[in-house]
Amino acid sequence: MTLVLGLESSCDDSAVALVTGDRQILAQAVVGQNSAHQPFGGVVPEIAARAHVAVLPGLIRQVLDEARVRIAAVDAVAATAGPGLIGGVMVALLAGKGLALSAGKPLVAVNHLEGHALSPRLADPGLEFPYLLLLASGGHCQLLEVRGVDDYRRLATTIDDAAGEAFDKAAKLLGLPYPGGPAIEALAREGDPAAVPLPRPLLGSREPHFSFAGLKSAVQRAVASGAHRPADIASSFQQAVIDCLVDRTARALAASDAPTLVVAGGVAANQAIRGALAGLAEREGRAFSVPPGWLCTDNAAMIAWAGAERLAAGRTDPLDTPPRARWPL
Ligand code: KG4
Ligand code: ZN
Repeated sequence: MTLVLGLESSCDDSAVALVTGDRQILAQAVVGQNSAHQPFGGVVPEIAARAHVAVLPGLIRQVLDEARVRIAAVDAVAATAGPGLIGGVMVALLAGKGLALSAGKPLVAVNHLEGHALSPRLADPGLEFPYLLLLASGGHCQLLEVRGVDDYRRLATTIDDAAGEAFDKAAKLLGLPYPGGPAIEALAREGDPAAVPLPRPLLGSREPHFSFAGLKSAVQRAVASGAHRPADIASSFQQAVIDCLVDRTARALAASDAPTLVVAGGVAANQAIRGALAGLAEREGRAFSVPPGWLCTDNAAMIAWAGAERLAAGRTDPLDTPPRARWPL
């Protein structure tokens, strides 16, 4: 069975995983950098890149040892080659190139978004192409028709902030720690989602895209007014994001005959968001699939898996493949 080593360092998680072509995760490790970035309320690229350099080689050793696999036994080395913070992207890509070069293995340069987009197929063996994917993370908010490996049709993107970015900014305004998503989700459980009137940008609009900047500004005003409990603001904010995600996804579903709705990316770790989208799929008569939470946030299992899918499709990459800060699917 094919065996792929995956490496990821495009944002603030250093991650390594060994995954087989039949969906076994032999070993994996993720080391986040939250405490290093927390004083700044967001990811500082220079700090992130340096931390990846320090951490990634040890993780590679650890994962190979844990799985009792020698690098000579892998079929390919898959590394995220973008999009992301360029200093960080370079770390996993160069480590991957070094391993591929020294072990005489093919390199698979993986688009991080493709990692998220294919991750549901790692968790769900029954999930076939095509599917309609809501990819909501810290850097992206897109609706994609996933028709196959390297075959994506983008139906919508955000015209300003990504959904995860909105969570992070709202959390900062509420004085909550980075990353904001889990902190807001926890606080929202103690609040009333109808307590604070907040806008739903583009709700019901004929155009397909997302927008969250206006929502963030409204949260800013709600916090500044001093008139609301933080838990009510968090809960009302989360509800506004849910309403926007559901509305925009419903619009995309109407334009797609894909039988399954899939959600991936860090924001898909949110239980309320998962529940709302499952409800939408049911109303629309589509199947629903979402990876477990740990596979939604950044990890290397999804990179190794995308590498395995690309390898099976005969797609490997030369050693002079450049890192890319921007790389649309
Ligand atoms: O996919 P990811 O780990 O990294 C990127 O590729 O961006 O996504 C991180 C984003 C952050 O903005 C974080 O606040 C958000 O996903 N996030 C969540 C939750 N967990 C992570 N947003 C809402 N609810 C959550 N439980
Ligand atoms: Zn990601």
